Amino acid sequence: MLPARVPSADDASSDQDNRIAVRRGGSKVGTEKSDTLIHDVPAGWARRAHADAAKYSSMYASSVSTPDAFWAEHGKRIDWIKPFTKVKNTSFAPGKVSIKWFEDGTTNVAMNCIDRHLARRAGQVAIIWEGDDPAESRHITYAELHDQVCRFANVLKSHGVKKGDTVTIYLPMIPEAAYAMLACAQIGAVHSIVFGGFSPDALAGRIEGCQSKVLVTADEGLRGGRKVPLKVNADDALKKVAGIVKTMIVVKRTGGGIDWVDGRDVWYADEVAKASADCAPVEMNAEDPLFLLYTSGSTGAPKGVVHSTGGYLVFASMTHQYLFDYHDGDIYWCTADVGWVTGHSYIVYGPLANGATTLMFEGIPNYPSTSRFWQVVDKHKVNIFYTAPTAIRSLMGAGEEPVKQTSRASLRLLGSVGEPINPEAWDWYHRVVGDGRCPIVDTWWQTETGGILISPLPGATALKPGSATLPFFGVMPEVVDASGAVLTGACEGNLVIADSWPGQMRTVYGDHERFMQTYFATYPGKYFTGDGCRRDADGYYWITGRVDDVINVSGHRMGTAEVESALVAHQKVSEAAVVGFPHDIKGQGIYAYVTLMSDAEPSGELRKELVAWVRKEIGPIAAPDVIQFAPGLPKTRSGKIMRRILRKIAEDEVGALGDTSTLADPAVVDDLIKNRHSQK
Ligand code: WTA
Repeated sequence: MLPARVPSADDASSDQDNRIAVRRGGSKVGTEKSDTLIHDVPAGWARRAHADAAKYSSMYASSVSTPDAFWAEHGKRIDWIKPFTKVKNTSFAPGKVSIKWFEDGTTNVAMNCIDRHLARRAGQVAIIWEGDDPAESRHITYAELHDQVCRFANVLKSHGVKKGDTVTIYLPMIPEAAYAMLACAQIGAVHSIVFGGFSPDALAGRIEGCQSKVLVTADEGLRGGRKVPLKVNADDALKKVAGIVKTMIVVKRTGGGIDWVDGRDVWYADEVAKASADCAPVEMNAEDPLFLLYTSGSTGAPKGVVHSTGGYLVFASMTHQYLFDYHDGDIYWCTADVGWVTGHSYIVYGPLANGATTLMFEGIPNYPSTSRFWQVVDKHKVNIFYTAPTAIRSLMGAGEEPVKQTSRASLRLLGSVGEPINPEAWDWYHRVVGDGRCPIVDTWWQTETGGILISPLPGATALKPGSATLPFFGVMPEVVDASGAVLTGACEGNLVIADSWPGQMRTVYGDHERFMQTYFATYPGKYFTGDGCRRDADGYYWITGRVDDVINVSGHRMGTAEVESALVAHQKVSEAAVVGFPHDIKGQGIYAYVTLMSDAEPSGELRKELVAWVRKEIGPIAAPDVIQFAPGLPKTRSGKIMRRILRKIAEDEVGALGDTSTLADPAVVDDLIKNRHSQK
């Protein structure tokens, strides 16, 4: 059980005690500025948080020197049906990658997120739901969550869903999304959530990939006052992959007009009303999959990242407790969408396993106004707030006034995730949103890692704006150069993780070979993150962004290959190459070089048509910001596109193109430079 946050003498002096001292310092490495500000841990935080600096150091040391003993102890933070006797059994060896944690234990995730809390917390609010419309909100207690999840679990069973089957969920941010996830967990079904912003094509591909018999969706979503046609998209998707989905379960969210396929479509509410509220959690092995989640990589179609039951939950709940300094009674809000991994680990599974009150928000940061986030904080007295740098940057643009109109007195801690946070945004978040009194935990992790790997511990780690700081317990980051040599001390290179942690993905759905190739072949024996990274003389990690062909648009991962294949599917396009470029709000924007078929003419119209085409093929998040028509692309003599050059041109760094002598036709580059869309 979590230690409660007991009011103490510290609280009386908390203003004094919690003031964050700032000093200049830090070590200069690479591009790091020598005037980095360091925010020391205030005394009050060091006393009250789950770990101070000394405790972090000793726990970290034992977590990496004796992982079996460390995780045997912390594995007990969840309830087991049959306790594990084995802890870590993992290998990153080339061709033999195998990851197992707590492998002989059995448990159930829904049991841990709901049932085990009922004795103490039946009446406690589990989920605060805040609608898109500020007039709409709901409080769902653990007892009600239990009732809803059991009923929906029985609905799934009545439609033939069994342990090990996949269920695709394509829902907006409504409580039913959490019910559906937990109902799957309860009966041992594996959910695959598809973000509501994805297109019918993207949904179809993901349904086909995991062969779900059941799809759970809504008539329409509601975001920023606008309707999202989920059922229309789902109908379209099922036309593309006929015969797989037998049942579509539809939540009525807006009541908008939709088509109906008798015999296939059923209303969520009707089904739940008929179902029994009694359903026992199914006993699952620790290594049974809990969910899969499709994510973009540098090549090919998105892959299904598979997460486990036991190790995943231990890791998600422990990181949630320690890194967000979660204590009983806190109101916690993560603004992510459940369609992304952040929503899985830090809206639903981590917080609920800890018996937390987790806030789920249907809307967007600037509707009805740019004060919305802070109004929601005041309305529900949010203590812990976790969002993405892109949201901060876009709100910064509206100035301080919309923030200052609100109190935010309840806030104690702020979190950031999804992309590097630039020091200016960090400072604004800290000074304006947090009134200078809330530590910021800049949490680095990935869909593949299941939970946060590098982040400050708020009572232990002095903060440097822009740095994700230090590894969590059990995490062994290393910085390597291109040849794989491990760099020591202050350095810059690629980020790898030397050994396994319990929340790590186990495989790519249906393709273990691809798992090994993607993550363990670049630097044999190590997990390659795909990120570049700098480490300073204090051992702090500074993530510099992706070093592969993945771009990060507003914290959303996008494979350049996916956007390229959408573009070349257009009949007027013969070839396309896509790269990222720095974007003030989105972090990275999408820059597409497009070569047309010989009978097609470049035009503004066609440019618009191609942007709309990509939106339709993948979804709005993939829409290119820039399309440059290119008569030719820079290629090596063997026909490989030289993306390095395309990146430089997109970044407007045309003076630094490097060696172009290996190009088959160097003249191509002159045209690209002349016709570039300057971002400056
Ligand atoms: C990036 C999101 C810098 C990184 C949880 C990573 C970050 C990718 C941070 C994973 C951060 C995430 N600082 N970069 N705090 N957090 N990233 O799978 O490039 O959607 O590889 O997981 O986002 O994105 P994903």
